[in-house]
Amino acid sequence: MKDETIHVKNILGLQLPTDPRWVDLTSISLEAILTDHAYCEQKAATTCISLIQRYSEYEELVSGLAPIVTEEWGHFRAVLNELQRRGLKLGKQRKDAYVNALLDFQTKGGRPEDRFLDQLLTMALIEARSCERFKRLSEGLNDAYLRKFYRKFMESEAGHYTLFITLAEKYLPKTKVRKRWKEWLEYEKQLMKDMEIRGDRIH
Ligand SMILES: [Fe+2]
Ligand SMILES: [Fe+2]
Repeated sequence: MKDETIHVKNILGLQLPTDPRWVDLTSISLEAILTDHAYCEQKAATTCISLIQRYSEYEELVSGLAPIVTEEWGHFRAVLNELQRRGLKLGKQRKDAYVNALLDFQTKGGRPEDRFLDQLLTMALIEARSCERFKRLSEGLNDAYLRKFYRKFMESEAGHYTLFITLAEKYLPKTKVRKRWKEWLEYEKQLMKDMEIRGDRIH
């Protein structure tokens, strides 16, 4: 995705930009942020695999997500490589408060199509926020190599956000998708407001 389509103020519909102090905090704890980033990529790959298993009857979903699994795992490897190149270690996975709070908002019970929609929108939202965070890093880090490194991730996650929204609109009425997406954006805005700003986490 080209830069001009990704606006700083309101990236991919997100209602609240990241606090600018976050980027400075990440530079203090590079090992921790890279570790957290690596696991974000691993979780993205794992979740795409789960979606393929759960919704194997949706052919476009399967063929759309299959290459994303490879891409996300490639991202994991790129981050792992970056840790090793710097003599840093992949630490332990932490509890992901951001993702857990999003999972809390997912429709439980109810109609299967509503649960399906929420799973796709959860992924779209994580991709959108990750894209926004990577953009911040690509602009604000002191290290020129890392700025470039994060720019590639930013572009890739923007494409993933688009894919999840496109898949939702393929299988469900557009008006329904848009209505629910707005609710997700509102929820995420509040979540962002309430969450502590930590430099050792992507979200
Ligand atoms: Fe990724
Ligand atoms: Fe992604």
